[in-house]
Amino acid sequence: MDQFVIDGGHPLSGSIAVSGSKNASLPILAVSVMTSDACVFRNVPRLRDVQTQVKILNTLGVESQWVRDAITTRVRDDYNSTAPYELVKQMRAGVCVLGPLVAARGEAVVSLPGGCVIGERPIDLHLRGLQALGAEIRIEHGYVHAKAPKGGLKGAEIYLGGRFGSSVLATDNVMCAAVLARGTTVIECAACEPEVVDLAECLNSMGARIEGAGSPRITIHGVRRLKGCDWAVIPDRIEAATFLIAGALTRSPITVKGARAQHLLAVIDVLRQMGVEVKRKGQNMTVVPVERPKAYEVTTLPFPAFPTDVQSQIMALMAVATGTSVITERIYPDRFMAAAELKRMGANISVTNGQAVVHGVESLAGAEVMASDLRASAALVVAALAAHGQTRISRVYHIDRGYERIEERLRRLGARIQRVREPGTTGDEPAQAAGAG
Ligand code: EPU
Repeated sequence: MDQFVIDGGHPLSGSIAVSGSKNASLPILAVSVMTSDACVFRNVPRLRDVQTQVKILNTLGVESQWVRDAITTRVRDDYNSTAPYELVKQMRAGVCVLGPLVAARGEAVVSLPGGCVIGERPIDLHLRGLQALGAEIRIEHGYVHAKAPKGGLKGAEIYLGGRFGSSVLATDNVMCAAVLARGTTVIECAACEPEVVDLAECLNSMGARIEGAGSPRITIHGVRRLKGCDWAVIPDRIEAATFLIAGALTRSPITVKGARAQHLLAVIDVLRQMGVEVKRKGQNMTVVPVERPKAYEVTTLPFPAFPTDVQSQIMALMAVATGTSVITERIYPDRFMAAAELKRMGANISVTNGQAVVHGVESLAGAEVMASDLRASAALVVAALAAHGQTRISRVYHIDRGYERIEERLRRLGARIQRVREPGTTGDEPAQAAGAG
């Protein structure tokens, strides 16, 4: 197991390029089971979660070759359709093979993902959507068994809203399944996230007929087969937001290259309300830092509103703002793991009932802290870059799930960050279960 040792309080400078999107890559890779042709997926980040997804696909009979940022896949003739617990427990997004498998092979056996540190994450909407298309669903011994009826899945009108609104991966699963169903499917209350649009466009490039992705109503006209694809995934908007916040926290005019501003409007607006401008030029965004940001109120909601995946990082910025900020978490009301660790660094945050009240302090101080989930870890990294003195962040495997070689890339901006082996560990510890993402 590794730790980050960060000597904070030093300004950053220069530019940093954004990687391909983790959350777009994971469901897009899963469409490889839906065609017998070869597929090429480009701009795929080299992350633990992507490696896990590739392993899941390998167990499902997908041969893969990973060269630089491109993964080429092809389905073997002798495949099986079971995604095992050992892999799905490492990454909940493994569940996004369910829709593609039942569509293409008529059946799927996928482990239930199990617990998750960021809160309860049911998959009832995924299952309801597939049932509406005619799939028979059984849950046995911790596995979901999904089976298409004799004549195959059949298009339907499906309302896919849940307690917290739309669901990204449920929309992905049902959309994939509907692509190869007979007739037309309408998904109402579909997730509008850019990652859903990317998946839809990738499927359309393979011959699917999907309309309306990016809006709450997606219409899918079923087709008989899909061909292969050569698809480049979108840039990672969450990574881009994390870097913008790193610039704001360290008061550094860094430039984030290659992100799509239209995916980041809510984040850019919140930064502006806090006094931090983001200058846009083509696909480059440069932070115009201020001495101290102002407090603000943020509510996390589905896209295009402020994303839950940037909530921990903005909390780190609010921790040093003038005045009192309030964060209301509407997607995962318990996702406040960053608060306790930021408090070890001198932040003044209280959390109750899905809300965090952040009283800004003048500055943070380095401390020993522990990463607990992917985005909370990212918040600790950006906070540590700005804090006075040294911070040691243990369990950085969480951050490796979603940020590619983050320490090397931050070092190029002048950050003083080192990866060291955690005392008392060998580096051979098994991957931890129940990772968010
Ligand atoms: N929900 C249900 N029932 C379901 C599915 C979801 O009640 O069947 C609830 C969830 O509990 C949550 C809300 O609906 O309260 C939204 O969850 P959603 O299904 O949209 O989340 P997800 O699709 O499982 C993806 C991202 C997450 C991100 C969320 C929300 C991937 C691989 N993961 O998860 O990313 O937080 O959407 O935007 O795309 C991360 O990258 O750190 C991460 C956690």
